[in-house]
Amino acid sequence: MAKVKTTFFCQNCGTQFAKWQGQCNACKEWNTIVEELIQTSVKSDWKSPTSVVKKVAVPLRIKDIDSSKEARLDTFDGELNRILGGGVVPGSLTLLGGEPGIGKSTLLLQVSLKLPYKTLYVSGEESQKQIKMRAERINPDNSNCYILTETKTQNIFKQIEALEPDVVIIDSIQTLHSDYIESSSGSISQIKECTTELIKFAKETATPVILIGHITKDGNIAGPKILEHMVDTVLQFEGDRNHVFRILRAHKNRFGSTNELGIYEMQGTGLREVSNPSEILISKKDEELSGNAVAATLEGMRPLMIEVQALVSTAVYGTPQRSATGFNSKRLNMLLAVLEKRAGFRLGAKDVFLNITGGITVDDPAIDLAVVAAILSSNEDVALQKDFCFAAEVGLSGEIRPVQRVEQRILEAEKLGFSAIFVSKYNKISLKNTAIKIQMISKIEDLVGFIV
Ligand code: TYD
Ligand code: MG
Repeated sequence: MAKVKTTFFCQNCGTQFAKWQGQCNACKEWNTIVEELIQTSVKSDWKSPTSVVKKVAVPLRIKDIDSSKEARLDTFDGELNRILGGGVVPGSLTLLGGEPGIGKSTLLLQVSLKLPYKTLYVSGEESQKQIKMRAERINPDNSNCYILTETKTQNIFKQIEALEPDVVIIDSIQTLHSDYIESSSGSISQIKECTTELIKFAKETATPVILIGHITKDGNIAGPKILEHMVDTVLQFEGDRNHVFRILRAHKNRFGSTNELGIYEMQGTGLREVSNPSEILISKKDEELSGNAVAATLEGMRPLMIEVQALVSTAVYGTPQRSATGFNSKRLNMLLAVLEKRAGFRLGAKDVFLNITGGITVDDPAIDLAVVAAILSSNEDVALQKDFCFAAEVGLSGEIRPVQRVEQRILEAEKLGFSAIFVSKYNKISLKNTAIKIQMISKIEDLVGFIV
């Protein structure tokens, strides 16, 4: 019988301590150190200890290392391929995080059902029947997808050795436990151990493994921060559960860029890839309404036309109300202050409500001008022409500042049939003969002239 030992782990950063203490030396958090049982005398490995393959690495001259492009496995999902940089890399570990109910299991089950390779979907959360019911909603016939409901890693590896799948999906890393460690599933030492075993398995057999991870209340992936360091790619699935749109982003990607973004729509039959998001995010209306403006933003590398709605009304109470959905409210206050100074907007006497449609949160500063235009339009109760759009940042002195990659935004607006786009005069634009009118402005007063 192996000797049982306990160690102390910080639940916040995963640092290990020999004894308990009140504050973690590494992350300076208080009361995060918890005792966990561990068993260290058995060497952890994904294969049974007798069959361990020992490979000895030898140093190679950098010019001798084979640099031919890593073959990637197509995931047969356009959005996922784009985010991963063209498909999953064999032997890589990908972690998909997201709030409960956002659709992580749905996304990966859907991907496994589409794959023409032998896929093993290991679930520690749902029964085979439940998964079958879900699969029937998505795409019932696929003979390459195997479902295993198991949480012990040693048993999972036994099944893997027998089945030899091309892709392994684990739902979720927090439900797994390994015999080599005695603490409960979901604890830091279990997550670390199970991930280590999975990494060894992935690297030795060149099988891509995709893990689902839970996130904590503040949006971080549950478990030690080192989990994110251990895996090759960290994807985050986000969105508002009350809205149908889901956004998939890469937070870390050893094999590609982290600027890419995928958009899905949750339907009754699973997640649908949205390849042209702008068309859905802009409401098609015949009437022109005051308080609406369209911004040409960029999410990652993708141009996205987003509708901004503002409502300005006379404040009834002493303190005017400010409310922003999908937009930073501090920035809204700043823009209102600029408007007060530059456009005679009586800030103290107005309630201002701002909403970015589609349940999307926008960080791109290029949305500023559309926010300002929507507020001015609602304040004056004059509708903007509905085929106008905006792409510029607004500075503290009311100057219209240039934004990056403005040409890409202009081309997207042109493609969607907008007749004019307002951009900063200081943006260098070399586009010629565009069907869309490029309106260059340098200060807020210029914009007021167009609206009022
Ligand atoms: P789920 O994928 O289980 O989320 P997670 O694994 O991230 O916790 O949940 C997805 C949600 O989407 C669930 O509330 C039901 C809903 N749903 C649909 O709207 N359409 C579908 O086709 C499926 C399978 C689920
Ligand atoms: Mg799930």
